[in-house]
Amino acid sequence: MKIKIFILLSAFILLIGCAVNSSAAEKIVMKIDDPVMQVDGQDMNIDNDGTTPVIINGRTMLPVRAIAEALGLNIAWNESDRTVTITTAAENDNEENTQPEKTADKKILVAYYSAQNHTKGAAEAIADELKADTFVITPKEPYTEADLDWTDDNSRVNAEHDAPDTRHIELESSSPESFADYDVVFVGYPIWWGSASWVVDDFIKNNDFTGKTVIPFCTSQASGLGESGKELEEMAGTGNWLEGKRFPESFDEKEVRQWASSLKLD
Ligand SMILES: Cc1cc2nc3c(=O)[nH]c(=O)nc-3n(C[C@H](O)[C@H](O)[C@H](O)COP(=O)(O)O)c2cc1C
Repeated sequence: MKIKIFILLSAFILLIGCAVNSSAAEKIVMKIDDPVMQVDGQDMNIDNDGTTPVIINGRTMLPVRAIAEALGLNIAWNESDRTVTITTAAENDNEENTQPEKTADKKILVAYYSAQNHTKGAAEAIADELKADTFVITPKEPYTEADLDWTDDNSRVNAEHDAPDTRHIELESSSPESFADYDVVFVGYPIWWGSASWVVDDFIKNNDFTGKTVIPFCTSQASGLGESGKELEEMAGTGNWLEGKRFPESFDEKEVRQWASSLKLD
């Protein structure tokens, strides 16, 4: 289930009276009923679902996630007690804060499958932004362009899609070296028929994510993240899975980097 969180404009002005991250946007402009906001003069979708600011009973309600992320704040939704927690960078930093901004204390892995290189681009931007290691999920039998042609009823992807119980994609390796050492694991994939490409299944099933923060991300032509992250979380059975993020095929690298650093994983 997708949760959208709105916050009353006056409450948000009080909230941002506290310190924000130095790399945060300086000016955000949102318009009622408009799904595009301006962040430091650049047009950006508020989210991938077309969410817009609204006026309810004379009160101006703004989508808080987009604003918080642009300001470099951390925002977390807890499904079990239905709370939203917003923290400033200062809350997470240790008192002396001598670390350079992008040096992660945590060991981060960006694992991804990419059939046509879109997800690869997003994964590399995340890894570069967070100084993370990468692991490429590689099927033993790679997909050719013909294999990926979902418009052809006889293509490999269509055959696999039609027989979910029998499909099993063997990987060159399903676990990177020293997987146990990583604190945070990003899992990237293309959306196939509204879900995560099944090529990542063995990576998910064959690793123990206990104690790790796991962040799904994907690229797609038009579909959102949907239930793909939740489905992988169930498949894994372990790990602390965050909500994740979908990027369009022709993603804006700045947006990917901004999202990755807004997670404040260090
Ligand atoms: C077999 C197949 C199924 C796809 N299904 C969807 C879909 O359901 N929704 C969508 O928006 N895009 C879909 N796409 C497009 C891909 O999600 C999109 O091109 C993605 O960015 C590809 O990532 P990659 O280059 O890393 O493989 C599909 C592509 C393929 C090959």
